[in-house]
Amino acid sequence: ADQRSTLKQRIKQLLKEKQAVLVSHYYVDADLQDLAEETGGCVSDSLEMARFGRDHSAQTLIVAGVRFMGETAKILSPEKRILMPDLDATCSLDLGCPADEFTAFCDAHPDRAVVVYANTSAAVKARADWMVTSSIGLDIVAHLHAQGKKILWAPDKHLGSYIQQKTGADMLLWQGSCLVHDEFKGVELELLKAQYPQAKILVHPESPANVVALADVVGSTTQIIDAAVNSPADTFIVATDNGILHKMRAAAPGKRFIEAPTAGNSATCKSCAHCPWMAMNGLQNLVDLLENMEHSSANEIHVDPAIGQQAVTSITRMLDFAA
Ligand code: 13P
Ligand code: SF4
Repeated sequence: ADQRSTLKQRIKQLLKEKQAVLVSHYYVDADLQDLAEETGGCVSDSLEMARFGRDHSAQTLIVAGVRFMGETAKILSPEKRILMPDLDATCSLDLGCPADEFTAFCDAHPDRAVVVYANTSAAVKARADWMVTSSIGLDIVAHLHAQGKKILWAPDKHLGSYIQQKTGADMLLWQGSCLVHDEFKGVELELLKAQYPQAKILVHPESPANVVALADVVGSTTQIIDAAVNSPADTFIVATDNGILHKMRAAAPGKRFIEAPTAGNSATCKSCAHCPWMAMNGLQNLVDLLENMEHSSANEIHVDPAIGQQAVTSITRMLDFAA
């Protein structure tokens, strides 16, 4: 604990000295979430992270999250320096949707509006008409459906089929998934609910359909935290990365949060409700990054400017729609 507080103090001092701002996701280490909040940065879902990074006046943003979050920040603010504690922090959705295969898929279906999830590479976003996050994907697809448009959706199949079911839109789905959320189990969740009949079930829509079907609230990380705070219930079962519990417990003290069941324990499941790439962000690599940022570009996000210029359109459409 002592060493952690020393590192935290050092990070606060360095952020100030280097005029850098920290933007953290709810799935990263609790200390990194707290630091973002305590130093005038932000801890949020991916939509709010994108907006905050774009609007903040600091010329250096440190993104504690996964690579697509850093790339989105860079695409929206090419003039800013975007740094990440570990550039190898990727996402199974991004990995499962290579730009060349995706482009061929789009080319084969030219009659469809291309809507991609934020969890994709810059090149995939560049091929899209719209980029969406989990907090607003449903509203945007409903809007396009109302205009009579058919949709090509990528890459998350669970989020895609949830939106399809809710909106009735004609959606052709890429078959990607999140390795963390894919592990949540419907049957076990039902059994757990039977043990806690008063509990409300909060679910991130990257989870399988039989888990989403049991949810009282389906939403982005920010939306399910808000639901926990605003609900009169005092017990919640949470189906998303367990990094979120830190903020939930702080925001709703006195309430009880129980992790939704996964396939097994660390010996049998790949992720056990915690994203291995989010976990690559730590206090020590953040200190190292801040200490060396003048002399090293090893942790800097670069996006090909031509790709960035194409990708910014799909992201800006979403931000304008959300405004
Ligand atoms: P949110 O936009 O809900 O924060 O989700 C991002 C993410 O990667 C979920 O796994
Ligand atoms: Fe990707 Fe899933 Fe990790 Fe989110 S939790 S970054 S969707 S692998």
